[in-house]
Amino acid sequence: MSSRQVMINIEGLSKSFGKIQALDNLNLDIKKGELLGIIGPNGAGKTTAIRIACCILQPDQGDIRVDGYSIHHDPLKIKSIIGYLPEEPNLYERFKARDLLKYFAELYGVPTADINPRIDELLELVGMTHRAEDRINTFSKGLRQRMGIARALVHDPDVIIFDEPTMGLDPATSQKIRNFIHQLKGDKTMILCTHYMDEADQLCDRVALLDQGRIRDIGTPDYLKSKIHGDVILQIQVQDPQQSDQDAITALPSVEGLEVVGGKYHISLKSREEISPVIDVLGRRVISVNTKEPTLDDVFISTVED
Ligand SMILES: Nc1ncnc2c1ncn2[C@@H]1O[C@H](COP(=O)(O)OP(=O)(O)OP(=O)(O)O)[C@@H](O)[C@H]1O
Ligand SMILES: [Mg+2]
Repeated sequence: MSSRQVMINIEGLSKSFGKIQALDNLNLDIKKGELLGIIGPNGAGKTTAIRIACCILQPDQGDIRVDGYSIHHDPLKIKSIIGYLPEEPNLYERFKARDLLKYFAELYGVPTADINPRIDELLELVGMTHRAEDRINTFSKGLRQRMGIARALVHDPDVIIFDEPTMGLDPATSQKIRNFIHQLKGDKTMILCTHYMDEADQLCDRVALLDQGRIRDIGTPDYLKSKIHGDVILQIQVQDPQQSDQDAITALPSVEGLEVVGGKYHISLKSREEISPVIDVLGRRVISVNTKEPTLDDVFISTVED
C-alpha cells in the first residue's frame, strides 16, 4: 500500500462558517485504488471536506490535490476526475431517468457515440433499466439514490465520493449499493462518508474518525477496533449492582475498562481467558452474561466521548 501513488492529498485544510470552525487544519492522503471511510458525529466536517474536494466550496486555508491537480488552480479538471454523490442528490425532477443521465453525460463531455451504451450500462448497474422512461419525480428515495449514483458515475470518473449513500434506505437496497461500491474497489479511488459503522467495516480499507474538524484517529477497521478496546467485551447483567463490584472488577489486571450501559456492566478484557475472574467477583448475583467483539460503533463512541 505504501508504495502506491497518492491520488488525493489534503493539506492544512481549514474552513469556518462564522464562529463555527468546520475544518481545523485537516491533513490526509488517500492512495490510488483505496477506499477511505470517513466517520464522525453530526457536524464533524465530513460534508464540508468533501464539498471542498469537489470544488463546490472554497477553503479558508490549505489545498486539496486530486491526481496532482489543485482545487485552487484546476477546478474544472478536478470536477472531471471526481464523481460525487451528495447527501441529497439534486436531480432534475421533470427529467426521465434516461434523459437525466444523457444531460449529465453531455455536460461532462462524454463522446456522443459512447453516451447511449454508457447510460444502458449504468441503468443496468443500479437496477433501473425498467424505469428508464419514468420521470424522476415519480421515484422513491431509494430509486433516487440509485439515480444519484448513476449520475455520479456517468463520466466514468477515477475518483468517486459517496456522502452517506445508504442513509434512509431499506436493508436490501442498502446492501445492493454496498455490493456495488464493493465491485468498484481497486479500480476506483473512493471516499465513503457514513454513519453506519458496519458499512465502514465491511467496505473500507482505512477509516478516518473526524470530530470537530480534526482527524481523531485513522487506520484499518481492525486496527481501530483493536486499539480502542481489548479483544473482547463482556456484558454482564447483575442483581443489585454495587460500586464495590466496579472497583473490584477494574482492579483486575486483565480489565481494560468498565462502563455501565443500561444497567449492565460492559467490561473490556484483553482475552476470553479472563472472563471467569470477573464472574468470580460477582458470584451468584450474575443474571446474564454475553460476550461480543468490539465494533466500530464502540470505537466511535469511545473516541468521540473522550
Ligand atoms: N453553509 C454553511 N453555513 C453555515 N454553517 C455551515 C455550513 N455548512 C456547514 N456548516 C457547519 O459546519 C459544521 C460541519 O458541517 P458538515 O456538514 O461538514 O458536517 P458533517 O460531518 O457532514 O455532519 P452530518 O453527519 O450531520 O452530515 C456544522 O457545524 C455545520 O452546521
Ligand atoms: Mg454531512
